Amino acid sequence: MKIVMIFIAFLFASLLFATDFTVTSMPEVQRKSPPEDVKNIPFGTVFSDHMFVMKWNEQKGWHEARIEPYHAFTFDPASLHLHYGTEIFEGMKAFKNNQGKVVLFRPGEHLKRMNRSAVRMMMPEIDASFAEKALKRLLQEDKRWVPSQPGTSLYIRPTMIASQNTINLVVSNEYLFYIIMSPVGALYSKGFKPTAILVSDQYTRSSIGGVGDVKTGGNYAASMKAQSEAKKAGYDQVLWLDPVKRQYVEEVGSMNIFFVINGKLVTPELTGTILPGITRQSVLELSRANGWKVVERKISIQEVIKAIKNGSCTEIFGTGTAAVISSIGKLKYKDREYSIASKPDSFTLKIYETITGIQQGRILDTFRWISEI
Ligand code: PLP
Ligand code: COI
Repeated sequence: MKIVMIFIAFLFASLLFATDFTVTSMPEVQRKSPPEDVKNIPFGTVFSDHMFVMKWNEQKGWHEARIEPYHAFTFDPASLHLHYGTEIFEGMKAFKNNQGKVVLFRPGEHLKRMNRSAVRMMMPEIDASFAEKALKRLLQEDKRWVPSQPGTSLYIRPTMIASQNTINLVVSNEYLFYIIMSPVGALYSKGFKPTAILVSDQYTRSSIGGVGDVKTGGNYAASMKAQSEAKKAGYDQVLWLDPVKRQYVEEVGSMNIFFVINGKLVTPELTGTILPGITRQSVLELSRANGWKVVERKISIQEVIKAIKNGSCTEIFGTGTAAVISSIGKLKYKDREYSIASKPDSFTLKIYETITGIQQGRILDTFRWISEI
């Protein structure tokens, strides 16, 4: 009886989750040459030789998992994701460390967040440990695409889309999950130079009860008008305020934000409208381990400006996978500009050096953030 039950449970699990994948390697002669100078190619425009793909439907669950040469998809024009934006994604990185090993930064956390996005968007969850195994196998196939110049990495984009062919507004009964990989330098060409930020009191990124706390494409599409107006006005990014009072700081561009006020790190608390960043979480863990004072709380733009004016706010920086840490040098709010002069021995630099040091193998990974392939 027990054996029959175990067998049924196994059968059920294998229906829900794919358990193995096929690998079709591209013949050596057809493989492309990875770019020599990754820093000079625009972010996210060149892709490695292979990709991971799997399908989902109601009958089979996840199935047809495979690693195959990178290729285009063909979609029916009615494919659901093209009409209603049923899409989620992740952004994580692999590095070639100073011993030549390929390592991933917190893949488990990224795949966990992908499942949170899936639940919110009524999409099927993936088996995170299976996806991590598939990703590591994909990385083995495309190892030579992981760049080794300082400041470079292989940016990994797990993506899920609804693929049922219908323009009816329904929960899709078919999905596609895939992983593509792109060798990248820093997201922002300014590198570590302080950026200029426009505080938007006109547009918001997120709404109460909405989807701002998950990684779904529509959030980014909806942010482009504000971003392009900021660019036109001479600023690098938009600082987003809360959607109700337009008073509390939420995020900056596609990054979380930290302030150093009176020597203490302050970051907006997660209230449901902010994306819980893995880099943000790493900065919190690092700060607590080092005994630096750090608080997660609401912080108003008025408090920030007052602190910049009286000199108690000494640093502002954004955190995210693509940029890692991006120093902020200037804020514009309601027709006035406020400058922050960060000291060279700043928290911003220490945090940047520690996180990138752990990623590149220069600093011991006491946090267990690194996963070897
Ligand atoms: N906020 C938004 C809106 C983002 O898209 C990202 C990037 O993923 C982040 C914050 C930073 O998150 P993470 O550190 O996990 O990359
Ligand atoms: C990331 O930091 O991974 C991001 O999401 C940025 C991306 C939108 C380019």
